[in-house]
Amino acid sequence: MAFGSDLVEVDDFLREISDPDGALEVLNPADATLVARVRSFSADDVARHIATMNDAWPSWRSESAKARSIRLKAWNDLILANSENLARLVTLECGKPLAEARGEVAYAAAFIEWFAEEAKRAYGEVIPAPVSGKNLFTLRQPVGVAAAITPWNFPLAMITRKVGPALAAGCPMIVKPAEATPLSALALEHLAREAGISERVFKVVPTVAPVDIGDVFCRSTEIRKLSFTGSTPVGKILLEKCASTVKRVSMELGGNAPFIVFDDADIGPAIEGAIASKFRNAGQTCVCANRFLVQDGIHDQFVSALVDRVRQLKVGRGEEEGVQIGPIINEAGAQKVENLVVDAVNNGAHVECGGGRHSAGMSFFEPTVLTGVTPDMTIFNSEIFGPVASITKFATEAEAIRMANATPYGLAAYFFTEDRKRISRLNHALEYGMVGANDGMISTEVAPFGGVKESGLGREGGRQGLEEYLETKYVSASGY
Ligand code: SIN
Repeated sequence: MAFGSDLVEVDDFLREISDPDGALEVLNPADATLVARVRSFSADDVARHIATMNDAWPSWRSESAKARSIRLKAWNDLILANSENLARLVTLECGKPLAEARGEVAYAAAFIEWFAEEAKRAYGEVIPAPVSGKNLFTLRQPVGVAAAITPWNFPLAMITRKVGPALAAGCPMIVKPAEATPLSALALEHLAREAGISERVFKVVPTVAPVDIGDVFCRSTEIRKLSFTGSTPVGKILLEKCASTVKRVSMELGGNAPFIVFDDADIGPAIEGAIASKFRNAGQTCVCANRFLVQDGIHDQFVSALVDRVRQLKVGRGEEEGVQIGPIINEAGAQKVENLVVDAVNNGAHVECGGGRHSAGMSFFEPTVLTGVTPDMTIFNSEIFGPVASITKFATEAEAIRMANATPYGLAAYFFTEDRKRISRLNHALEYGMVGANDGMISTEVAPFGGVKESGLGREGGRQGLEEYLETKYVSASGY
């Protein structure tokens, strides 16, 4: 069975992977109807796969980098050739608008292409010896079998961002996708097989028992690396469990991104940056602007322009033409967003537009702008994960920097100003892993993505992404 170019083939794929006795139900976030029922892997199943992958590791690592690269490129080509069907699958199980889902397919493929190229650049180094008669050098070697736990908000790209570098470096990888979105992961796996990447090297294990599988990953001595994208509380639990086997870890955790608008900002790009950063995937990304900090001189103008723009956003089912805001992933997610808005309003915030559930259905939330938000409110200190722009006024640059940094999180931060010296000051002062200076869309496969403080450990993408799957072995060779 291969994906083709129309929706009928998505249906074929769903029929093929569906298991009438499967314990994992996949629901459409737009209306909570059943999309498919798939097999759930148990802890024993997963342990068996890990053992097989560990056996396969020596042969995968001993393939030349070029040979691994060729397979990754073939996989990239197949993902791109099946863009439309993959995008429809993403929209079905994750709800995001089709246009965004198409963007995600391209983003996902780009990681495979990038790491297919980087596979050939795992350079070691020659170290000038301090004594004669010795040669000192380093080898870069794959860490071993790796495991990934991935989220529902980018059901393709958060997998390829991990599997791309793992396979490129010579590490087999086993992936537990989010319970809500296993279908995109299974489609990726299907295409990987067509590209000649066997299940001994890349395996997807959907499950209804995420804690059990997480335990197996963390405590297995055969898994030498765990990469997780998800919440900070879960990341902390996984870190503790990984300590038992002193495993390498990458953690891409929660954020609380400030989006600072100074009086001297160019308002047009600031508004477009705000829309791109805040409303992508209905506000369900870790790097979404979470706190708008707006200087008092531009505040009213910014709010009025933002509200005009937000009112134009089209809300609806992801597959409908022109829709820009899809549903929240599920009712619990929508309830959380609603609670944050109600709490802010009860504590003095003002609803400029939106403010509640949308008529499209229970899991849809109106694109919302709130003003008068203060640092003591829960919404200021929580990852909203919904289409709500929460605005706080500030007076001075020092105050903005202080507020921006006053959080345990440090993933992404954004600011808009036309003052060149201020740009330089902010680039240095913001305690974040990623900064958008007059830029609301920072994600790309060619740059290192990741956070500081409680937003995580390690980097994904860029040259640095490959490092996460490589050990450095130092060799001192005497007698030369
Ligand atoms: C995320 O939300 O975790 C990823 C967002 C991105 O890659 O831009």
